Amino acid sequence: MIAKLAPPGRRASRPSAAAGAPRDAPAVAVRPVRLDDLDAVIRIDSVVTGIEKRDYWRSLYRRYGEAASAERQFLVAVANDAVVGFVIGEVRDWEFGSPPCGWVFAIDVRPDARLGGTGTRLLEAVCAGFRQAGVRKVRTMLSRDNTLILSFFRSQGMMTGPFIPLEMDLDG
Ligand SMILES: CC(C)(COP(=O)(O)OP(=O)(O)OC[C@H]1O[C@@H](n2cnc3c(N)ncnc32)[C@H](O)[C@@H]1OP(=O)(O)O)[C@@H](O)C(=O)NCCC(=O)NCCS
Repeated sequence: MIAKLAPPGRRASRPSAAAGAPRDAPAVAVRPVRLDDLDAVIRIDSVVTGIEKRDYWRSLYRRYGEAASAERQFLVAVANDAVVGFVIGEVRDWEFGSPPCGWVFAIDVRPDARLGGTGTRLLEAVCAGFRQAGVRKVRTMLSRDNTLILSFFRSQGMMTGPFIPLEMDLDG
């Protein structure tokens, strides 16, 4: 999935994060991750993926949380003092011959907090950081059969880009 940050066809942002949420939905704030958020992040990821990857998330925290900048962002969405979602993104230079651009490589919202605009808020926040870092394009990659994340990214204006993934087995 490859897209300009604000393509002409992109839908307008919601007037507020909770515009699509139930009337009593708590306000959501997006901020940089903190060490004490990590357990909640690991829980959300394990609910979504079915695998608890504690070491992986600790290493991501060291690379994107402790070493945060506009180029390296690990952000969480917080409602009622609880982490309800997160996004991780990084500016990468000249990969695959491409000028610097932002990559979003993880985004998750807790299942009971979805469809209230939190995913949109997280993506907007990470894209704001990318703009601050001076890049004008954001990219991501997703599994072909993950129609939920595809619907989400499409709703944000992301479109198929000029790169294709290739892979092969290294066994045998
Ligand atoms: C994708 C995800 C981040 C969206 O979070 P969210 O808080 O529900 O997103 P939003 O409320 O901002 O939704 C924005 C738009 O996405 C689309 N969308 C979200 N959920 C959808 C669903 N279940 N079906 C169809 N479209 C959907 C809609 O167009 C929606 O806009 P609308 O509510 O005005 O129709 C969340 O569903 C999630 O965490 N899914 C699992 C992610 C995953 O698989 N991660 C692993 C790969 S990194």
